[in-house]
Amino acid sequence: MSKPKIIVTRRWHPEVEAVLVERFDTRLNEDDHPMSVSELQDALRSADAVLPTVCDKVTAEVLGADNIRAKILGSNGVGFNHIDLEAAKAAGLTVTNTPEVLTDCTADLAMTLLLAVARRAGEGERHLRNGEWTGWRPTHMMGTSVTGKTLGLIGMGRIARAVAARAAHGFNMKIIFHDPFPPRAEDIEGLNASSCASPEEVFAQADFVSLHCPGGKETYHLIGTEAFKAMQPGAFLINTARGDVVDESALISALENGEIAGAGLDVFEKEPAVSAGLLKLENVVLLPHLGSATRETRKAMGMRVVENIEAFFNGDIPRDKLV
Ligand code: DGY
Repeated sequence: MSKPKIIVTRRWHPEVEAVLVERFDTRLNEDDHPMSVSELQDALRSADAVLPTVCDKVTAEVLGADNIRAKILGSNGVGFNHIDLEAAKAAGLTVTNTPEVLTDCTADLAMTLLLAVARRAGEGERHLRNGEWTGWRPTHMMGTSVTGKTLGLIGMGRIARAVAARAAHGFNMKIIFHDPFPPRAEDIEGLNASSCASPEEVFAQADFVSLHCPGGKETYHLIGTEAFKAMQPGAFLINTARGDVVDESALISALENGEIAGAGLDVFEKEPAVSAGLLKLENVVLLPHLGSATRETRKAMGMRVVENIEAFFNGDIPRDKLV
């Protein structure tokens, strides 16, 4: 029997690419360029499986291509707001993602941002590299203490709970959260976490607000002018979720007007574009969507895609089937 034909939209971890090439009739994206709408449509027309990443916009337009041959989209990433699931289903495609394997890695990065912005690490490094450091003094670059403060989580899924564990056990932080679909009691056992009835209740109490909700229509601009007004003036916003959860221009105004103290961002509303207003501010730490970017995690994510598409081609239900 001939091997299923697979098209991979970006370069992946080399060991995963080797597995894909060995087990499938695989076409890699040798020069790692982002695929255009027509390239994605051609991929859907010519392969049995297309393996996109979170940077490929698999919209209704893409999925509306005629003569689609593909039967599965094995997406490399946990978030799936880049895929129009209804349109995929209508086009007869199964869609899978890669939950769990990137939980710890992303939680580590949320803590990296939280600590970096509170302790002015980005600003301090720029200061030193620019040759501006004149030596230790009691008033130099005073930041904000993290230990013992209140962490407010918007969304309490796996990644939020992993952040809560680090914050509660490593930094003795008090954890509060809001999630319209609250976790089971056993999932938050030992975190000393209290549920809030609304995001506003979180904003009012938190020293740090960290976002862990999915992107998409439901959460679009959830954090905007009103949210910033509801936050404490000394609060910090951390976003490792999706850029469009935050109204970036409202964030810039809130930072400029001192409505909040700072922000640590790994995702952006129009990424890879970053608002010019953010680039000018010292009280933000900006990273290029690195949440899951460790060698170990990227390999695990890729292998989870392999597992999903192998199950599919063996006639089984892939463990991470979304539709
Ligand atoms: C995901 O998997 O959704 C992340 O954003 C990629 O790191």
